[in-house]
Amino acid sequence: MPTMQPGTRDRLADLLTTAAPSTDQGFVDLLGESPQAGPPTGITQRLMRTSLLPRVYERYWRPLLGCVFKGPFGPSMAGEVRLATELLALRPGQTVLDVACGTGRFTRAFGAAVAPGGLAIGLDGARPMLETAVAESGQDTVAYLRADAVEPPLRGSTVDAICCFAALHMFAEPEKALDSFAGLLKPGGRIVLLTSARRGWQPARTVETMGGILSGQRMFDRGEIAAALRTRGFTAIAERYAGFTQIVAGKLASAGAVRTSSKT
Ligand SMILES: C[S@@+](CC[C@H](N)C(=O)[O-])C[C@H]1O[C@@H](n2cnc3c(N)ncnc32)[C@H](O)[C@@H]1O
Repeated sequence: MPTMQPGTRDRLADLLTTAAPSTDQGFVDLLGESPQAGPPTGITQRLMRTSLLPRVYERYWRPLLGCVFKGPFGPSMAGEVRLATELLALRPGQTVLDVACGTGRFTRAFGAAVAPGGLAIGLDGARPMLETAVAESGQDTVAYLRADAVEPPLRGSTVDAICCFAALHMFAEPEKALDSFAGLLKPGGRIVLLTSARRGWQPARTVETMGGILSGQRMFDRGEIAAALRTRGFTAIAERYAGFTQIVAGKLASAGAVRTSSKT
């Protein structure tokens, strides 16, 4: 069974708000016997917990669904990883949280970008996803954590960057998750999200909403995520749309800047 390198485990444990259990299965498990992180939201989230999906996820499932949802002009998978890494402006020594990391494709790239001395934490609620992620890892700058993405159990203002790709629309409380992310970032910290984006044409919106309800995924409006980030003190917002997806990035204003903007 793969284990986490002791130094890496200690660095993750230092950031947690709760004691890490002593069992080592290659990731720190804060959900124990609970099969699910947070309230269940539907069939897509349940599928993520099956043992088959992680085996085909990176090579087939994610690229295929990515093509369907991003359309012909969206970034490739490698392009998504590159874009996320660039928008987060990762540097050696930094701490980055990959929320809902799945099998860890982005986490591994972030681990390389923050080496030496940094830490990329891949957080997910699905045990099978994390088992696959751990088997693919081996970097001393990567640690995996099984926990709820909506309220990651990390100390506030300790993280330099947060990525949450292909998952926010699956959470029971996405707004609460955004509150948590803002609280975890250091002033000046960066965030990048890839999530759903509805179009403006009413018949298409109705079909998209129905599809979202059936699959247990929320359809966000264009501009909705950018606005949600602004109200949480993010600046330098960048939005990019492709098909039914939006990639939105921002930088948390310094504490002084947030105070100034709330006065005006
Ligand atoms: C579609 S995958 C995205 C994986 C990766 N970020 C990517 O872009 O390929 C969504 C992931 O979100 C995780 N997830 C969904 N709801 C969660 C929650 N409340 N807490 C933790 N993980 C959650 C699932 O287990 C799944 O691994």
